Amino acid sequence: MASSFPEPRPSEITPRRAYLRRRSLLAAAGLLGGSRIANAAGLSVHPGPFNASEPLTPREDVTHYNNFYEFGLDKDDPARLSGGFRPRPWTLTIDGAVAKPLTLDVDTLIAGGALESRVYRMRCVEAWSMVIPWDGVPLADILRKAEPQGSAKFVAFQSVVRPDQMPGQRGGLGSLDWPYVEGLRLDEAMNPLSFLALGLYGDLLPNQNGAPLRLVTPWKYGFKGIKSITRITLVSEMPPTTWNRMASNEYGFYANVNPEVDHPRWSQASERIIGSGGFFGETRKPTQMFNGYGAQVAQLYAGMDLRKFY
Ligand code: MTE
Repeated sequence: MASSFPEPRPSEITPRRAYLRRRSLLAAAGLLGGSRIANAAGLSVHPGPFNASEPLTPREDVTHYNNFYEFGLDKDDPARLSGGFRPRPWTLTIDGAVAKPLTLDVDTLIAGGALESRVYRMRCVEAWSMVIPWDGVPLADILRKAEPQGSAKFVAFQSVVRPDQMPGQRGGLGSLDWPYVEGLRLDEAMNPLSFLALGLYGDLLPNQNGAPLRLVTPWKYGFKGIKSITRITLVSEMPPTTWNRMASNEYGFYANVNPEVDHPRWSQASERIIGSGGFFGETRKPTQMFNGYGAQVAQLYAGMDLRKFY
């Protein structure tokens, strides 16, 4: 099935009012899980650059409308089914074409006191969007610690594999090949916008959002934002990426937000604003080139045909 991802899922098609009604029924029955309470530990952060001016997406939507196939295919599966995931202790290994391979303890990173907050627009390839306040560290700062060598041209990211804690990894219809993998060109990874998030809304990252750390590249479609990362490897060749492997005609390596290049099965010209629901349903807005981050990233793609390198 996954070759047809992302077929809109039931939670997405369900009119928002019905979806919320279903959620409040589940909440009343005590069936909504997730890790928000377990992870509630106010982070110490300082304001960073890049603060989108649009209204924030409510925390409830950011943490209960998710894509995280390790916990299931529906938007409410990650919050419901990730309560048993244990994101501590956790180490992140950086290796490959680097002078100083290293293994970082996530809590040491947090305790280091260098966390900054950033508000980024996030545009999913499924034509919906959010505005999210992340807490984390610039990816470039972490990569520099390992001292990338001249032969390093790309950065390969790998998510955790724990079928005992991640029900979506135990197979079944629509399952992906694990681990989930992603990649960036080295210059994209070193761009000041590329961010490793360890928190959102000032608290540790909830399990469903990719605890304990995930990538955020706001000018690219959301699927580049690989969650629960264990390894970052500097490589000389373009690394494989999960959705490109599943359907290369639909999901390219670059995955830059581009309203002029439609997905083969739907338009990318506009997006549904999650959490904007009023009586008449959620509003839409036109999608911006590079999700509005052209001033920061357009130069990375100068001279490239973005219809070919989608
Ligand atoms: N990372 C892993 N490991 N597994 C996934 O299924 N889904 C991706 C991305 N990162 C995914 C992942 C997709 S399709 C999107 S849109 C974003 O995570 C969603 O992030 P959010 O749930 O925090 O909004």
